[in-house]
Amino acid sequence: MASSKSKGRVSLDERFYLSADDFFPANAGLGLTYDDVSLATRYSEVLPRMTRLDSSLSDSLALSLPIVSSDMDTVTEHRMAIAMALNGGLGLLHYNMPETDQVAEVRRVKNHIHGMIGDPAVVSADDTIAQVLARIERDGLAFSTFPVTSSDGTLLGLLPGSTVKERHGQRKVVAVMIPRDKVFTVAEKDLGKDPIATADRKFSEHVGQNKLLVVDSKNKLRGLFTLSDIERISEESRAHVRPTRDADFRLRVGVAISVPRTADGEIDRARLLAHVSALIDEGADALAISTAHGHTKGVGDALRLLRKAHKGITLIAGNVTSGEGVEFLAAAGADTIKIGQGPGSICTTRIVAGVGIPQLTALYVASRAAAKKGVRILADGGITKSGDIVKALTLADAVILGGLLAGSREAPGKLMEINGKTYKEYRGMGSHEAMRKGSAARYGHSASGKFSKVAAEGIEALKEVSGTVDQVLGTLAGGVQSGLGYLGAANLAEHRKRARYIRVTPAGQREAAPHDVIEIKAGS
Ligand code: XMP
Repeated sequence: MASSKSKGRVSLDERFYLSADDFFPANAGLGLTYDDVSLATRYSEVLPRMTRLDSSLSDSLALSLPIVSSDMDTVTEHRMAIAMALNGGLGLLHYNMPETDQVAEVRRVKNHIHGMIGDPAVVSADDTIAQVLARIERDGLAFSTFPVTSSDGTLLGLLPGSTVKERHGQRKVVAVMIPRDKVFTVAEKDLGKDPIATADRKFSEHVGQNKLLVVDSKNKLRGLFTLSDIERISEESRAHVRPTRDADFRLRVGVAISVPRTADGEIDRARLLAHVSALIDEGADALAISTAHGHTKGVGDALRLLRKAHKGITLIAGNVTSGEGVEFLAAAGADTIKIGQGPGSICTTRIVAGVGIPQLTALYVASRAAAKKGVRILADGGITKSGDIVKALTLADAVILGGLLAGSREAPGKLMEINGKTYKEYRGMGSHEAMRKGSAARYGHSASGKFSKVAAEGIEALKEVSGTVDQVLGTLAGGVQSGLGYLGAANLAEHRKRARYIRVTPAGQREAAPHDVIEIKAGS
């Protein structure tokens, strides 16, 4: 059908509901954020449940849910990162902890669940059960059954979890293990083209077995399948949620790193590179240099250093809100750039420092610079509802959430009960307490400075506990899918093309929320 435009006329809709490249330049000089704008609905043949939310942070890091949990010490540690990856998103581990602890956090995520575990944790026959228990505790392992091998990797037996108990602490592994001839194994050469299907079949044939060990022709251990992993994988392939996994079927994880400095203020290259190598050795999939001001020489120098040392790793950097900032970080080697200065629910940067750009305007400017440079952008901060995500994804590749996840069960921190309601702490990384714990550098202050004299750029707050990450993300993803359905977009690429914007007045904002009723049950 010939459009009215092709006949030389502009349709009514086209005059009122503008594409991003018409709308934002027409509003140049005005800072717009999520509630200032609404999206026009379009003709649709797309049911929300048919929509796909696939996105990516680099050519090698795909997400089936474009949501990343913020690298804040009250949001992302290993439990959050595991839950995010299992839901198709990604967790960014925070850096307010000793470097060795951060490496252990990566290990916990990467150990969480596997298809075939190519490098399974093993014990030696001479270990005591007490030593095995100490290791489980140290590495945060979620399992207690181990193959027993000699120093050259030869399979000697299997230590069953039922024997890994304090009461047997003084016994040696060799005394309680299942001997080699009774261990359930498969030869590597018999795995075939579809090892998961082979393992699945073997488990069905051998009732009661729940660990299948893979050995080579010399009886060296090559890998391990667990029944629960295989069952979960079969479930996942039926469900729509596709976890974010690496080529070895391990969950993916991102890590925020702080850039250490020597006494004379230079980047401590040796320490930075050693820490990053340790993270990558454990399987870290993305590194994020997170600062309040990413368009700086320091961030550029650190990015160039990391890009040179690790060509293939996904690098995230920020935060910026300008086209020049995006181009600068892209040129320094970033794959994905975090956009947002001061929009966060616990941020006071705009109040304290008087800087920052409302999110939608910042995202438009950044997205056009990013397209020129072939990099992705993340909308970081200020998202309070699924509708904000729908709007952000018309310009950004994914969103970062802090406050919306901080109340979930998997967020770090103790539960507090106040007047019958349960809360968790949520604080800005630029708050006095968080800076004292290590994040001062993110805001350009010295960790040894007197924090009472340094202007904090974040507050300490509480979030009401909001259920599990599965529940929170399920609700948000459902809302985003509805948004795509209204625009007639089957995926995010179509969503970006079909988005048409209109500004909303304060009266329009009031109209958008429940009004003139007495609310008896809040919507989720
Ligand atoms: P939301 O709105 O999701 O925002 O809670 C999370 C994002 O806020 C940023 N952040 C801060 N910004 N002062 C700031 O100005 C702070 O203390 C602070 N702490 C976190 C960060 O980008 C995060 O992802």
